[in-house]
Amino acid sequence: MKTSYETIFENNKAWVQRKRDSDPEFFNRLAREQHPEYLFIGCSDSRVPANDITGLEPGNLFVHRNIANMVQGSDVNVQSVIEYAAAHLDIKHIVICGHYGCGGIKAAMQPKDFGLLNPWLSTIRDVYRLHREELESILDETGRYNRLVELNVQEQCINVCKSGAVQANYFTKGYPDVHGWVYELNSGLLVDLQLDMPGIMKRLTKIYKVVP
Ligand code: CO
Repeated sequence: MKTSYETIFENNKAWVQRKRDSDPEFFNRLAREQHPEYLFIGCSDSRVPANDITGLEPGNLFVHRNIANMVQGSDVNVQSVIEYAAAHLDIKHIVICGHYGCGGIKAAMQPKDFGLLNPWLSTIRDVYRLHREELESILDETGRYNRLVELNVQEQCINVCKSGAVQANYFTKGYPDVHGWVYELNSGLLVDLQLDMPGIMKRLTKIYKVVP
């Protein structure tokens, strides 16, 4: 019997064949360069596969994923991804994609010890503290949990706007647009939170603007 590990390589060969059949130049073209228009920052959750849910082909989506789709100022990994996407790939859209049912958000809602995860969860707890009044006015626990997922997406969109590379493009070229999305595990549908990022950017300029 084949193991799931062996199956992966068979899947890969079949995928290569399908791609070549429909577009003989597919791999040659991608091997030369990438011009993605989108940077997708999502959760590491195995149920939120970036290319599948957006229907975007390889080459069209620059992807970063971590627990609870966080953009922390001290995280060299995500900051490098954003810097490269803005300054070198000239990306047009940056998406923060959270999802309902996120384990990272759920863990952060409990005042418990999660070991090495504590500093990571702490920044999600900061989002809770910032929006405590609104969150605690929601009596239904699931409703509160879902709302924290949304507010966390909103705060990470703001964190993206703190990047100097993002600001440099935004104030000279008018992009990237920053979008907050939430993915519904139950339906498979993406919800656009319709955040007014230009308005938010304008209000925060006085505090966070780091470019001349
Ligand atoms: Co998650």
